[in-house]
Amino acid sequence: MKGKDFLSVADLEAEEVSAMVQAAQKMKSGDSPRPLEGKVLALLFEKPSLRTRVSFEVGIRQLGGECVYLSKEDIGLGTREPESDIAGVLDRWVDGIVARVFSHRSLQILAERASIPVVNALSDLEHPCQAMGDLLTIHEQKGRLDGIKVAFVGDGNNIAASLGLGCASVGANFTIATPKDYQVRTVAWEEAGKRAARSESRLEWVEDPRDAVRDADVVYTDVWVSMGDESEREERLRAFAGYQVDEELFARAKGDAVFMHDMPAHRGEEVSEGMLEHPRSVVFDQAENRLHAQKAILAALFAE
Ligand code: NVA
Repeated sequence: MKGKDFLSVADLEAEEVSAMVQAAQKMKSGDSPRPLEGKVLALLFEKPSLRTRVSFEVGIRQLGGECVYLSKEDIGLGTREPESDIAGVLDRWVDGIVARVFSHRSLQILAERASIPVVNALSDLEHPCQAMGDLLTIHEQKGRLDGIKVAFVGDGNNIAASLGLGCASVGANFTIATPKDYQVRTVAWEEAGKRAARSESRLEWVEDPRDAVRDADVVYTDVWVSMGDESEREERLRAFAGYQVDEELFARAKGDAVFMHDMPAHRGEEVSEGMLEHPRSVVFDQAENRLHAQKAILAALFAE
C-alpha cells in the first residue's frame, strides 16, 4: 500500500482487507506508531462532514502528522480551478490528500495528477474508509467476518457499494434490499461479485427488506437522500416508503443481530425514532472505529 491511493475498497486485495481490519484492531488496542511525523496532509472537502473530518484530523495528529483543511469555498474543485491543477500544486507542498468529493471522477483526476497518496473520504460511488471501520465493528461484535450475514436495507449508494465490496473480500455474506431502480450498479458491485465468488460468500439483491434481514447478523441502513441527491428528495421518499428499518423489521433478524448506520441518521425516514438507541445498536462504536480504521490505512500508505 505504501505510496498508493485508496479510492475504493478494491484498491486493497481481498487478503489485504482482512489484514487492514487486524491492523485497525491493533491501533484500537493502543498501538501508537508515528509514521506521519514531519508530514502534512491536505483535507479537501466539497461536502459537509463531522465524523470523517474529525476522525481524520485526530488520527493524523495521533500518527504524528499535521493537516490543512480546505473547504469547497476555499478551493472550488473543478470550478475555480481544474482538479489537475489543484493536485499539481498540492503535490509540491503536502504529503497526502484526503478528499470528499461530489464526483468520483474528481478523485481519479487528483490521484492521476498527484504523486502523493490520495484517500477517498467519500464520493458519490464509494466510502471505503467507512466500510473499513464497519468491518472492524462487525468483527468486534461477532468475533469473525467469514460467514457473517450483513443485510443492507435502503439505497444502493456509496455506503452499500463499499460495504458490499468489503464483505465480499472477507467472506461475509451481503444481501441488499432496495427498490428496483435503486440497486448498486457500479463497477464496485461487479468487483464485489468477483470477490464473493472467490471467497465463496453470497452477494445478492432482493426487493423485500424482510427477505434481506432473515437470519442476518447485522442490519444496516443509510440515508435515502445522499449529499448531492437533494433535488430527488420527494421522488426518493416515495420510492423508499416501506424500506424503513424499525423495531419490527429488526426483530426478524437473528436474535443477537446488531443494528448499524453510518450516520447522519434521519429518524422517521430510513430509521425509526428508537432504532439508534436500541440496545443492540452499535452506531457509536461504528463512529469511533472510523478513527482506528483510518489510522491503519494511513499507516499503510505512509509506512516507513
Ligand atoms: N450516503 C451518504 C453517506 C454519508 C456519510 C451520503 O453520501 O450522503
